[in-house]
Amino acid sequence: MSSHWEDFFASHLPPSDFEDNRTLLKEFCERHNQDNQQIILITSGGTTVPLEHNTVRFVDNFSAGTRGAASAEYFLDHDCVVIFLHRHKSLEPFTRHFTGLQFMDMLELQEDGQNTTITVKPDSVDVVAPILKRYKASHDTGKILYVNFTTLSDYFWLLRAACECLADYGARAILYLAAAVSDFYIPSSEMPTHKMQSEAGAPTISLKLVPKLLAPLVNLWIPQAFVVSFKLETDENLLITKCRDALKKYKHKLVIGNILQTRRNKVVFVSPENSYEISLTREQVLNGMEIESQIVSNVISCHSHFLKTNY
Ligand code: PMT
Repeated sequence: MSSHWEDFFASHLPPSDFEDNRTLLKEFCERHNQDNQQIILITSGGTTVPLEHNTVRFVDNFSAGTRGAASAEYFLDHDCVVIFLHRHKSLEPFTRHFTGLQFMDMLELQEDGQNTTITVKPDSVDVVAPILKRYKASHDTGKILYVNFTTLSDYFWLLRAACECLADYGARAILYLAAAVSDFYIPSSEMPTHKMQSEAGAPTISLKLVPKLLAPLVNLWIPQAFVVSFKLETDENLLITKCRDALKKYKHKLVIGNILQTRRNKVVFVSPENSYEISLTREQVLNGMEIESQIVSNVISCHSHFLKTNY
């Protein structure tokens, strides 16, 4: 059985740094609201479900946060203000281009007596410079706020706090819910305090259904916002139906459907009025185009249309 979202909050404490993050969110939202700007809350990456209070083991999911991190960059390119609510250590905008050893290989080290100089190798300048330029443009103007979560319950607390801080933006706020949020969890009251011991034998773990936050989010927390949810499926035949079901149930504005294996090249936009596919050609993929650039342009035009027709 699914627990009610209010019971979930009542039985899970906020994360230890919750008040600090709430203050950051509040200040960020107030500062940018003065400019009459569009603001985007992006959720990104997967939530964990701990198996013990003193967590050694947890249930996780596949999401690396690519969709959210790439989309954040494109929203910034469109001059939007971005709150990037992401899983700790998942991909982040800009740095996602330089993961692993690849970044080290772009640098050159020169040691001359007391002086050490680090430079970008000439053949890497064309790669680093445009990304660094975009990074500086958004960071120097304070257009992006990073807030991170790890567990499902951190995500619940931070998402609600972010919505409350965004409520004054009304229809200018876009919620872009790309995080892969766990559907199952172990209630706090049923979790052991300490690490489960193998000597006690294999544990039987009973998971409960997580309440969907979209319901209170759309109806109570931020009813005027332009809410975009994502829907991931592995069976192509189910995708559009599931997207339509979500729209009917939560009554938000747009669902973007994707299939696990093809999510980098193809998505489907489903709104109450219509549905259409966005996909990249083989040539576009080879030229380094990312589907998020198309998703973001389309979301921005859907939002502009929403502002014109609803207000
Ligand atoms: O990170 P990547 O590797 O790039 O992958 C991107 C992605 C595949 C994770 C992304 O494109 C995506 O599809 N995200 C949504 C995953 C999903 O199907 O979630 P869901 O069916 O559990 O939930 C649907 C919507 O309800 C989501 O927008 C979610 O934010 C929301 N939800 C989910 C659970 C919950 N308890 N409350 C919610 O509100």
